[in-house]
Amino acid sequence: TYVIALPCVDVKDRACVEECPVDCIYEGGRSLYIHPDECVDCGACEPVCPVEAIYYEDDVPERWAVHIEDNARFFTETLPGLDATLGSPGGAAKLGAIPADSPLVAGLPPHPM
Ligand code: F3S
Ligand code: F3S
Repeated sequence: TYVIALPCVDVKDRACVEECPVDCIYEGGRSLYIHPDECVDCGACEPVCPVEAIYYEDDVPERWAVHIEDNARFFTETLPGLDATLGSPGGAAKLGAIPADSPLVAGLPPHPM
């Protein structure tokens, strides 16, 4: 899977969303998150992010490696403010912006960059 790392937080440019052929990039409150099971590794999102937040999982810089597991937790955990896990919705557009963030992102101070 591809992963969205720290540079997206509080930026949310959303250029990546338009590129994804399977609509697997989901919007949270402070960041976007790629669904690790729905992503087909096409790589179309990676070059369009203006802050270089997107990486193939094996290429995530070490300082941001925590985002690999954290992206997944956005979908597998019941996040504060939500009634259930997101699971595998099979498309982000129908959900719109989700008023929650992954455990790591939710705890970051504003504008960590
Ligand atoms: Fe975030 Fe970059 Fe997409 S800032 S929303 S990962 S284009
Ligand atoms: Fe979509 Fe990027 Fe994966 S465009 S399929 S999230 S590599």
